[in-house]
Amino acid sequence: MGRIDGTAIAKEIRTQLAKAVDGLTGRKPGLAVLLVGEDAASETYVANKRRAAHNVGIRSTVIRRPVTIGEEELLQEIDRLNADHEIDGILVQLPLPPHISSSKVIKRIDPAKDVDGFHPINMGKLLIGEEDGFLPCTPYGIHEMLIRSHINPEGKHVVVLGRSNIVGKPLAALLMQKRPTCNATVTLVHSRTKDLKAICREADILVAAIGRPKFVTADMVKGGAVVIDVGINRVDAPQTSKGYKLVGDVDMAQVEEKASLISPVPGGVGPMTVAMLLQNTWTSYCRKEMA
Ligand SMILES: NC(=O)c1ccc[n+]([C@@H]2O[C@H](COP(=O)([O-])OP(=O)(O)OC[C@H]3O[C@@H](n4cnc5c(N)ncnc54)[C@H](OP(=O)(O)O)[C@@H]3O)[C@@H](O)[C@H]2O)c1
Repeated sequence: MGRIDGTAIAKEIRTQLAKAVDGLTGRKPGLAVLLVGEDAASETYVANKRRAAHNVGIRSTVIRRPVTIGEEELLQEIDRLNADHEIDGILVQLPLPPHISSSKVIKRIDPAKDVDGFHPINMGKLLIGEEDGFLPCTPYGIHEMLIRSHINPEGKHVVVLGRSNIVGKPLAALLMQKRPTCNATVTLVHSRTKDLKAICREADILVAAIGRPKFVTADMVKGGAVVIDVGINRVDAPQTSKGYKLVGDVDMAQVEEKASLISPVPGGVGPMTVAMLLQNTWTSYCRKEMA
């Protein structure tokens, strides 16, 4: 019956970061974003990240390379950023063109600068509960959003819809950790799951990250559950200036009536993801400068 205001929580985090960065006397944290090609959605995401970084005082550099760049040349670009002492965080905007292996590129980033948290070393640390890595920004943002909304997953049954490497799997790994603000019982469901609806109805916290508009309907939600909508789907909306609008994976109109709290799209997980990227960049800076 209530909404989780991801925009407001993200702003709170950015304000705290801005204060911390403002207090620095020496060099400011630096974030490098590598953008290959001219994909419109990627351009928008990069512009948002850049603006957000600038607003908290983090220096950001966007390195643009044409879609024709070779894999080796891109890897060398990453080597250069790995060696640059002014750069605390490196982010490669995905997807990359098909002739470049994303996995190879991600593995080339120095894990200590991997602020997206996608490097296998950071994923491994997350899984085994070592806290000196980086959490992927979307799962990190979801956890932070829950905690700051006074919803502790401890002892709760969390059902995560979707098993991608950037959302579903790392979120499940994070929430199952033996830690006071985690300790959840996690079930992860996907396209081969039997009785998916019935499993979802068992959830105290239901997280939808599948990329299907209005997939989660009221009959999949237990009364009073918390519902987190991660989906970002473009649907036609001829009456709008852009001709489309962004919706989540949850049928908001139906589910809002049944859930105790729900995160909307837009204004939920999206802004949190960007805020946690800045948080990771700050953490990287602090580990280097204040060690
Ligand atoms: N708000 C944010 O900051 C943010 C960040 C990242 C992603 N997103 C959004 O979140 C959504 C998911 O992204 P992603 O990268 O995780 O997606 P993805 O890599 O495409 O993975 C989708 C997952 O959903 C499962 N799935 C798809 N259709 C299903 C169905 N009918 N029933 C059950 N499971 C189904 C897939 O199952 P299989 O594995 O069995 O194929 C897969 O595990 C997208 O809309 C994306 O735009 C938002």
